[in-house]
Amino acid sequence: EKASPSITRFPLIHIRGIPLMCHIANNWDSIWAFRPDPSDLLIATYPKAGTTWTQEIIDLLLHNGDAEACKRAPTPVRSPFLEICSPPPIPSGLDLLNKMNPPRLIKTHLPFQLVPLGFWENKCKAIYVARNAKDNLVSYYYFDLMNKTQPEPGPFDGYIDKFMRGVLSWGSWYDHVKGYWVEREEKNILYLFYEDMKENPRREVERIMRYLDLSVSDDVINRIVELTSFKSMKENPMANYSCVPSPVFDHSVSPFMRKGEVGDWKNHFTPEQSKMFDEDYEKQMKDVNIPFRSLI
Ligand code: A3P
Repeated sequence: EKASPSITRFPLIHIRGIPLMCHIANNWDSIWAFRPDPSDLLIATYPKAGTTWTQEIIDLLLHNGDAEACKRAPTPVRSPFLEICSPPPIPSGLDLLNKMNPPRLIKTHLPFQLVPLGFWENKCKAIYVARNAKDNLVSYYYFDLMNKTQPEPGPFDGYIDKFMRGVLSWGSWYDHVKGYWVEREEKNILYLFYEDMKENPRREVERIMRYLDLSVSDDVINRIVELTSFKSMKENPMANYSCVPSPVFDHSVSPFMRKGEVGDWKNHFTPEQSKMFDEDYEKQMKDVNIPFRSLI
């Protein structure tokens, strides 16, 4: 398949110091002006932390575990991506949101300080998912290989350096996870970890259920856990991003549903890279104590 001329690896433009794909930066004023409804729910993540997984869990919770209802459309249509706005065929998040009635499940990768203020003014519920830095980096690396709208990742060694310097799309992982962490109590943000979801998905599904003031039966919880397993979602065309045409997401380079494991970084970092990364991590994270686990 020939790449459409409008699909290209977009350069990054800084908005208030955060590198964003140029089409996001160029549309920044309308993104920043977005006014959510108080009933809207925000799901915020650094890219590749488990967004899609959490979106699927929430959609199923909101539909009492009805698998068919949650196959009504692909993930980005059921749960629009606030800031995305690319040339067709990628749907613009704001266009989709404007056509939907609240309550809407809204995805964002924006760091806390760039989230439109209406979310906090309206006391919207917000769920943040964080994933340990090294696995998040590896997942992002493969994603940047397959997503032809993101900047070229280049060699892995240089990619580690870019991650540490915070120059990838959506900026610094360190600032991102910290930004939501320090606001979580004040803004009533449910702060989740990918590693907890892998360790005990049932416990985390129940945690989300309680946060959303929902109550579903044990059977439904079990079904949701099953329907949102890595295997089920990989086979679900409405949850595995096969909806995005191959000139944009080239799943033959690396599938969107790639591995879904904790600790895959060990297969990618050399011991030297790991040591260097850990030393820098200590410095960048010394001002907070976020309970990340890189291995279970
Ligand atoms: P890997 O690249 O490590 O496999 P996001 O949705 O934020 O883009 O995150 C994508 C990452 O979450 C990918 O990680 C993907 O495989 C993983 N993922 C998606 N659904 C999952 C699930 N049901 N269980 C575990 N991991 C999942």
